[in-house]
This record gives sequence, C-alpha cells and structure tokens, in this order.
Amino acid sequence: MATEKNTNNGLKKSILQNILRCKNPDEMIKDANKNGLKKTLNLFDLIILGVGVIIGSGIFAVVGIAAAGGNGNPGAGPALVISMIIAAIACVFSALCYCEFATMIPVAGGAYIYTFATLGEFMAWMIGWILMIEYGIGYIAVSFAWSNYFVQFMKGFEGHLPAILTNPPIWLITDYNTALNQLGTSANDVIPTIFGIPFCINFPAICIILIITWILKHETKDSTILASIMVAVKLLVIGVFVFVGSFYVKPENWVPFAPNGFEGVFMGAFIIFFAYIGFDALATTAEDCKNPQKDLPIGIIGSLALTTIIYILVAVVLTGMQSTSGAAIPDGFLNAPMAYVMQVANQNWVAGFISIGSLAGLTSVLLVMQLATTRILYAMSRDNFLPRIFRKLHRKNRTPNILTYTVALCAIIGVLTLNLNVAAELCNFGTFTSFIIVCVAVLILRHTDPDRPRPFKVPFSPWFPMLGILCCSSLMFFSMRNLSKSALLFPLWIFIGIAIYFIYGYRKNRKKEAKKLALKLKAIEKAKLTESANG
Ligand code: ALA
Repeated sequence: MATEKNTNNGLKKSILQNILRCKNPDEMIKDANKNGLKKTLNLFDLIILGVGVIIGSGIFAVVGIAAAGGNGNPGAGPALVISMIIAAIACVFSALCYCEFATMIPVAGGAYIYTFATLGEFMAWMIGWILMIEYGIGYIAVSFAWSNYFVQFMKGFEGHLPAILTNPPIWLITDYNTALNQLGTSANDVIPTIFGIPFCINFPAICIILIITWILKHETKDSTILASIMVAVKLLVIGVFVFVGSFYVKPENWVPFAPNGFEGVFMGAFIIFFAYIGFDALATTAEDCKNPQKDLPIGIIGSLALTTIIYILVAVVLTGMQSTSGAAIPDGFLNAPMAYVMQVANQNWVAGFISIGSLAGLTSVLLVMQLATTRILYAMSRDNFLPRIFRKLHRKNRTPNILTYTVALCAIIGVLTLNLNVAAELCNFGTFTSFIIVCVAVLILRHTDPDRPRPFKVPFSPWFPMLGILCCSSLMFFSMRNLSKSALLFPLWIFIGIAIYFIYGYRKNRKKEAKKLALKLKAIEKAKLTESANG
C-alpha cells in the first residue's frame, strides 16, 4: 500500500516535465553495450558505406537540372562547381556536429539519440519520426529513380530480349500520376482497372526493395561487402567518365561562367544538396562500429570530402562537354546527363557503362538508407516508443530482422501511393530539419553538460553549429519558394507523429517509469524490514 502511494507521488510530474525528460548518455551507452548490435565495421567499411550512400541519383541524374535549369528554375551553368562547394559547406557544419555526438554517444540511432540526450523525450520521438522521412521516404524516392534507370537500361536490349522486358507496359513501371503526366488522358486506355480503380504498380521498384531486404537480413558486414563492390563499380564508372570526357571538353562551353548569376548558383546549390544527403546515415551505425570514437569522424568527414572532389571533377567535365546556357537543353541531358554527353560524343560504350554504374550506385544508396532506417527504429523501440517485438534481434546475425521486413513493407506501400517528386520533396524537408536540430542539440549539450568527455569537438563552437543552422534554414527557405502542393504532406506527417506519441509512446513510458519506481521502492521497503528484523 505504502509502495503504491509512494509510486503515485513519485509519478506526479507535469506533462511538461515528462515530455522534457532527457535520457542520460551514460545510460544509453550502458544499454547498448549490454544488449547491442554486433561490432563489425572498421574505417574502410565506414568510408565505403559513406560513399555508397552519398553518391547516387544526385550526381547521375539531378546534376543535369542543377546545371541547365528546369521546372521553372534557373540553372547554375558552369558555375555548378560553385553550387557544389556551397552545398558541401552547408553540409560540413552539420557533419561536424554529427561527429561530436557520434563519438560522445556511440549508439545506434543518430540524430534521434542526440535529441533524446538534449531536448527530451517528445522532441526525440519527433526527430525520429522526421528521420523516417529523410531515410524512409528518401529510400522510396531512390527506388523510383532506380526503376527509371533500370527501364532505360533494359531498352538497350531491344530486339535481343522479349518485348515485355525491353518495353514493358507503363502500368508495370510507374505510378498512376506519372503515367498521366507522360501519356495524358490516353493513359486511361492502357491502364487496367480493378473495380473501376486504375491499377499501376512500379514492379522494378518493388523488386529492388525486396532484393535489398534480402541482403540486409544477413550480417551488417555482409551488406558492406556488397556495398563495397557496388561502390567500386560506381567509382570506376565516374573515373572513366572524367577521363574519357576530358578529351571532349570544349572550353568555350565554360563561357559565360554563371549565365543566371547568383540566383542560378544558389538554386543549383539547393538542388544539388540532394546529392550530399546520406553522410549523416553513418552516425546511425555507431553501434555497429569497432572503434567509433576514432573512425566515425574520419569516416563522416572523409566521405564528404571525397564525394565533393568527385562531384567537382564531374561538374567541370560535364559543363565543358555540353553548353548549359542559352540554347534549349535536350531532355536526355536533364534525365541522364553523364550518359547523354557520352552518346553525343559517340562514345556509346561509355554511355552503356555509365548506365550500369548508375544502377550500382543507386543500389548502394538504397542499401545504406534501409540500414539507417532500421537502426533508428531499433533505437526508438528500445526506448518504448514502439512495441517490444521490434527490439528482437536475429539470434545468429544480431540484426533487427522484424524491423527490416516492416520497413520493406512500408516502403512497398509508399511505392504504391507516392511518386518521385513528392518523395524527394519530403526527403529534403526531413533532412534540413534533422540537420538543424542536431546543430541546436550540440549547442545545448555544450551548455548543460560541458564536462562530458568529447573525443571529437566541433571547432569554433558556437559559430560553426550556428552557421550550420543558418545554412540549412536558408536552403529550406529557398526550397519553399517552389513548394508543390504535395509537400503539405510534411505538416500532416508531423501531426500524425504527435498523435502517435501521445496515444502510445507517452503512456508506455509513464507505465514503464511507474514499474521501475515501484520495484525500487519495494526493494527499499524490503531492506528496511530486514534491518528492523535484525535490529
Ligand atoms: N545522396 C543520395 C543520392 O544522390 C541521396 O542519391
């Protein structure tokens, strides 16, 4: 009776106190060490995973629009190099903040965990929920891009393979809205209906999700071996592009350098920002690392630096091969710029090789994005925000397989209901928000826990974290100028997140606290009784 009364008194905290409850970083590290993931990743694996997730549709596809403009946006022209440097600088401030946290609290979960240590339970849940947009919805966006490349690649076998493979019906390779955009109302003549509802299913996107899920159910180390092969292929392809392309560069294409002035350069930076998304995924694998304190900062900053150099080389060659100012820009350049300029230069074998590299590149992005999504959800389930079942690890591989399958299922539902533009917009919103929150969290923890050992410290704090916040919010503000209606899904997502927290996570955590406190008080009472019996 007394225990119950004390428990109730102990729990009489205001809602505000509860939602601001921060988790002690030491407790998180202890938890992770007790029952955590298998530590298999070294520095080389981290760089491979980093380059694997960063280099993808951004450089193989989006770069064309960033250079030449499109969808009503001005292009950067040859000044794309400057746009790339601006985007990289915006990323580096946040990357440094990620390094400080990842080395201080090396457990699975990335920004979610850092927020739990600084801004409390509610914000932690919300950032985890928002990260699902960055990685989960980003995963869906990249699977659409993979499907487009695959369809394009198969077209090259026309006449050699059955027509269903080289020229499949549109309802088997895209969503309904995209089919309508491409074919107009005549799309309705070719799309089958079920009970009057048009039936479109992006079959290649679903297949690649299933393949990635199959790979991820094995040990994390196995996934990185595969990622290494794909990263090698894509780096080789980019190397061949830069080498062969440099013989076809016409310096007159670099003049004028910035045909649309500052506006073009900044718009280019916003668009090409997508090409850098992913370095933060490395922080989510901290618990899989053998030596996170030493390897993670080098892995994160190293892969960011390496990709920036690669992007600059590609931008120089690409804008030197194709004029990006004045004349109308061909669709081929906007969709698959690297392959297109090689075709124009009559280097068809290089163009084919680039298609293979793009597929390998996108596959490795998918692999790491799904890995990161499951790691964040795993961390959230450990904190009682999700049902216990998701915490279960595979007995031999120590990988969270139930979560891996659940993520795959949700991604397939996303493929059936979203399209590339909506998914990409949502992904950008999620990324900007999480970068801003991590920069804020670094500043808060420096203030609230200044003596905690920090194996890596953001230099020039508070200026660098503040610059990170400024850069990301400016880019976010820039993106809002061209919002499509679909990006209104972001507030809806936030609203659903708040509802789930109060219906499930909040209550579950209070129950857990009550149980913990009751056990503690029971132990105290038992000790007192034993003492008085002995006395
Ligand atoms: N950075 C990743 C890509 O370019 C998201 O595909």
